[in-house]
Amino acid sequence: MYVHVVDHSALGAPHVPLEIKQAIRKEFKNTVILAGGHTKESAEAELQSGLADLVAFGRPFINNPDLVDRMQNDLPLSTDLHFDLFYTPDEKGYTDYPVYQQ
Ligand SMILES: Cc1cc2nc3c(=O)[nH]c(=O)nc-3n(C[C@H](O)[C@H](O)[C@H](O)COP(=O)(O)O)c2cc1C
Repeated sequence: MYVHVVDHSALGAPHVPLEIKQAIRKEFKNTVILAGGHTKESAEAELQSGLADLVAFGRPFINNPDLVDRMQNDLPLSTDLHFDLFYTPDEKGYTDYPVYQQ
């Protein structure tokens, strides 16, 4: 069992207040996952603060299919993400981004 808190403020939704995340952390004894607009550094900070057991990534995984490898090896992330291809019916903009190339 887990609670997954998604902060969509990077996409224009209202910000999830820190007090809400703290209250969930205090009251919920199982896994807490936070997501929304995270970088490697901000994810680490959430984990170090104790507010989350896990941090999830959404959009960075689309244009960085090797996201874990890039983060583990301090490789740069692609910022070339085509929002116009979201919610379209084929693989374009979802599974056709390249892995890191030097
Ligand atoms: C193309 C696209 C489709 C998504 N579809 C869903 C969905 O069906 N249900 C859901 O809960 N979140 C959905 N999300 C939200 C993501 O799961 C994630 O919470 C959000 O993108 C914030 O994380 P991020 O800033 O790392 O991308 C979608 C996001 C994208 C970009």
